[in-house]
Amino acid sequence: MTFDRKIKIAPSILSADFANFGAECQAIESQGADWVHVDVMDGHFVPNITFGPATCAAIRPHIKGVMDVHLMIAPVDPYIDAFAKAGADVITAHIEAGPHIHRTLQAIRATGAKAGLALNPGTPASAVEPLLDMIDLVCVMTVNPGFGGQKFIDMTGKIAALRALIGERPIHIEIDGGVDPTTAPLVARAGADVLVAGSAAFKGGSVDDPNVYGRNIRTIREAAEGVWT
Ligand code: DX5
Ligand code: ZN
Repeated sequence: MTFDRKIKIAPSILSADFANFGAECQAIESQGADWVHVDVMDGHFVPNITFGPATCAAIRPHIKGVMDVHLMIAPVDPYIDAFAKAGADVITAHIEAGPHIHRTLQAIRATGAKAGLALNPGTPASAVEPLLDMIDLVCVMTVNPGFGGQKFIDMTGKIAALRALIGERPIHIEIDGGVDPTTAPLVARAGADVLVAGSAAFKGGSVDDPNVYGRNIRTIREAAEGVWT
């Protein structure tokens, strides 16, 4: 994974057809997705359960690009190796998931995966300060984690603060939750570069009608890139 700050769209398969993940990953990549965002939920850290390492391993062969695994689980450490072996390129842990986030990030990097740090809406940007040299991505939650299709929570102040803290370091700012053509420009202007989109990317399409995915992805990307023109 080479680093650049170009806008990347990362559809979340939480909004995909759970009976057809392989075909869905191929469809969204063929329609312009830059990354594939994989939402792992354990029913403990968040009030929902999705899937685990076995599903990630099963979809890996169907993803040509970046498999961006978002762990909404607690504890995290016992499962890091399994997600790395499953082929995750980015493994993101929540700072709120346990008392030893520094050790968790070390363990993620030790697998060779990129280390992501996710912040729930109630966690300040300053929490990242001691960890800036341990991370490759900050995931700013703009919904309370657990479900797709929720209303965007404005975190543009936190995004701008993170952008200032990060400076020239090669650290992505990823936005996760309620991203659509209306909210994408707000977060791009504040300094975000990776935009996760579940419902806004998948809505109205299917593996039998993937062009809708392409239209959805283009609309979000153009809205975000439009802030610079
Ligand atoms: C929520 C997940 C998000 C979610 C985004 O806990 O982390 O990735 O799938 O879905 P939308 O884009 O529909 O808010
Ligand atoms: Zn997510």
